[in-house]
Amino acid sequence: MTDASSTPAIPVTIHRGDYRPPEWQVPDIALDFALGIERTAVTAALSVVRAVPNPAALVLRGDGIAVQEVRVDGAVWNDWRMDGPDLIVDLGERDAATVEVDTLIDPGANTQLMGLYASNSMLCTQCEAEGFRRITFHPDRPDVLSRYRVRMSGDKALFPILLSNGNCVAQGDGEGGSHWALWEDPWPKPSYLFALVAGDLVVNRDRFTTMSGREVELGIWVRAGDEDRTGHAMQALKDSMAWDERVYGREYDLDLFNIVAVSDFNMGAMENKGLNVFNTRYILADADTATDLDYDGVQGVVAHEYFHNWSGNRVTCRDWFQLSLKEGFTVFRDQSFSADMGSAPVKRIEDVRLLRAAQFPEDAGPLAHPIRPDSYQEISNFYTATVYNKGAEIIRMMATLLGPDRFRKGTDLYFDRHDGEAATCEDFVRAMEEGGDIDLSQFRRWYEQAGTPRLALSLAQEGGDWFLDVAQTVPPTPGQPEKAPMMMPLRLAAFAMDGSGAAMADTLVTLTGASQRVALGRFAARPALSVNRGFSAPVIVDYVRAPGELAWLAAHDDDPFARYEALQQLMLDTLVAGVSGEKADHAAVIDAVAGTLTGRAGDPAFVAEAVLLPSEAFIGDQMVIVDPDAIRRERLALQTALGRALENEWRAVLSGAAPLATDLSPKAKGGRRLRGVALAYLAATGFADVPALAFGIFSDADGMTERQAALATLAHGDSDERVAALDIFYQRYRDNPLVLDKWFQVQAWSLRPDTVGAVRTLGEHPDFTLTNPNRVRSLYGALTGNQAAFHQADGAGYRLIADLVIALDPRNPQTAARMIPPLGRWKRFDEARGAKMKAELERILAQPGLSRDSTEQASKSLLG
Ligand code: TRP
Ligand code: ZN
Repeated sequence: MTDASSTPAIPVTIHRGDYRPPEWQVPDIALDFALGIERTAVTAALSVVRAVPNPAALVLRGDGIAVQEVRVDGAVWNDWRMDGPDLIVDLGERDAATVEVDTLIDPGANTQLMGLYASNSMLCTQCEAEGFRRITFHPDRPDVLSRYRVRMSGDKALFPILLSNGNCVAQGDGEGGSHWALWEDPWPKPSYLFALVAGDLVVNRDRFTTMSGREVELGIWVRAGDEDRTGHAMQALKDSMAWDERVYGREYDLDLFNIVAVSDFNMGAMENKGLNVFNTRYILADADTATDLDYDGVQGVVAHEYFHNWSGNRVTCRDWFQLSLKEGFTVFRDQSFSADMGSAPVKRIEDVRLLRAAQFPEDAGPLAHPIRPDSYQEISNFYTATVYNKGAEIIRMMATLLGPDRFRKGTDLYFDRHDGEAATCEDFVRAMEEGGDIDLSQFRRWYEQAGTPRLALSLAQEGGDWFLDVAQTVPPTPGQPEKAPMMMPLRLAAFAMDGSGAAMADTLVTLTGASQRVALGRFAARPALSVNRGFSAPVIVDYVRAPGELAWLAAHDDDPFARYEALQQLMLDTLVAGVSGEKADHAAVIDAVAGTLTGRAGDPAFVAEAVLLPSEAFIGDQMVIVDPDAIRRERLALQTALGRALENEWRAVLSGAAPLATDLSPKAKGGRRLRGVALAYLAATGFADVPALAFGIFSDADGMTERQAALATLAHGDSDERVAALDIFYQRYRDNPLVLDKWFQVQAWSLRPDTVGAVRTLGEHPDFTLTNPNRVRSLYGALTGNQAAFHQADGAGYRLIADLVIALDPRNPQTAARMIPPLGRWKRFDEARGAKMKAELERILAQPGLSRDSTEQASKSLLG
């Protein structure tokens, strides 16, 4: 055999409707690894049994691996052939057999970070979605579940720690300084949940006693020197375990739960059974190096991966079209957990902001797809904000429609009924229907239809009776020109603005029709309407309201999310007016922000979120054609006006002492958040003392939240303090990769006019590397999030991103392809920009040997 190529030239489209159950099952697998960075020998012994009467030959999927030898029931077997990357073994009339295959792999050369690869000097695996086939030949589909027995051996000095799923049942020393370990996982699992880690690691150990009294040993494994930064992750793990017992009645099911932190990782983390593998970014945190946001990220991702043990592992997915079954549900679970652990209103605001920043644009662009897609070329491209975050909103809507008790009945039914199975989204909805005693036939359209629904609202009056008319439309998306209305929960309230109180208390309305009239009640005057409270449905609401009504709601609504929305809408209306060349009246916004700042001696984190201006990208999303320069100009003008008008308030926020960096209470975190926002507003004024003020905060900071906020503020400007702070930060943290990422990131986020050139130069910095996905994202990912820079009129931002994709694709197609979608929004920009974006997509597509990942993203983006 010569080397097998890893990606086919012609893209093959996989269709959801083509699903067929597996012809062969694999109840047991024994794996043997002789580990080496450059050479690992793998023997896989698969016990296979036929699952249908007359199965064809056994198809074992491979990707870039070659067969050394095949044995069947112990004897060398020659009845096999390759079909492209896959191995076909003809088993004749056999109903069952043990098929053994030897392969040789080179983890050191694995730059894709899929399969078995080296990171620093450790070996680790990433198998979701289709990485197991890069280790050994296997059906590698999630509806084939096996019990795994894993033996590994290797040099004891290089790999003193040997980990896999389940329990370590035996270990010992071998010859020539080697040692070995044998791991067994009693729970049948799909191949994407397999994991192995070998390396020189230290552990933070703890214990957890489950509700039925099982003693679980917990371990967080990191490189020596990092163990002091694992405390927050460990606490988050124990909190998650207790929360899942309390809220969902779900208990952990092994004696061991290990987490390993890895520096080079394509995504956030991976829920492998009993052996989660994490991006270091979501494990390591201490006050000196991590911001409050980083701490929250650690807590949320640790919870997410832990919760997968039930929503993903005990009940897994039948096929990859069902991905949202585990991801949407698990995101909803981690969001609920974080809400319970901190400030629930602030968590909801953050989740909605992320949905609007990442998912709404996806749903409005050429890559729009339903949460349960109908087809794909490369499944890695479908780990999207739609599948994850919109998927979570769909689960949340069912929870809202059912209420907590019936939702819990539904999830109990789902877990009990499908435990040990590979299930579908339909199975989940059916459990909700039966457990919740509700008809969700129309609701199922959320799984089928892409695009963000719009609700057009208008108030009507008939002799003192007030009504809300709601018209629902779902926009056309690629492949789906016609849409039907969907069932959704809409939370409403109405207020009398004269201060006489609530006209209509919080009410849950279920929408089903394309147009629907909701009776509100009898009021003397037109009420202020609080609509989509708590963001009960993931939709865009079109409802024109006077600035006075929005300001009233921003001050008086009893739902914090609705107060936030009202103020954001007021800001947005002002900004959009300015961008469209109308007069932007700043006065109403200034009054409302002042009221929010001073009026409520409440949660400072909420105040900080509420007074933040909408992002440039979100302002652009309100317009048919985005004008990035006008948006930046108008946003800066409003920021400057707010900075100057409320100068005393911002200075007052900054005048007190900052909360201790080690204090992670919601109040302390909120206090720091508000200080960061106040500093940004003051910086926008251009007052001469601000660089020194920011530099003082930077220098005196006792933790990373304040330090990074001050650095980011300075990075926008043009002061000597900017140069000094960037240099001090670099010198202090040059040996800490996660903090150095921030140094790259704040420069790529800068509002300075030379940011694209600065990013190009930073791409050649000795500390920049294409081998580390975090570093790539911190520089180039940050640039694509900097709207006016990325869309610089001369197209330099587009060229830089396309150059990156072309350089990265041969090495790491998954991470390269994730950089393409920002280039696909060409329809939303003027013709000159659009033409430049399309030209870059074409240049990417013209690369010989372009991966399946990037080919799919670039070609779909070009179609528009
Ligand atoms: N399933 C993982 C999660 O919890 C994410 C994941 C999917 C992943 N594919 C991956 C992680 C590839 C790393 C590499 O969301
Ligand atoms: Zn997940």
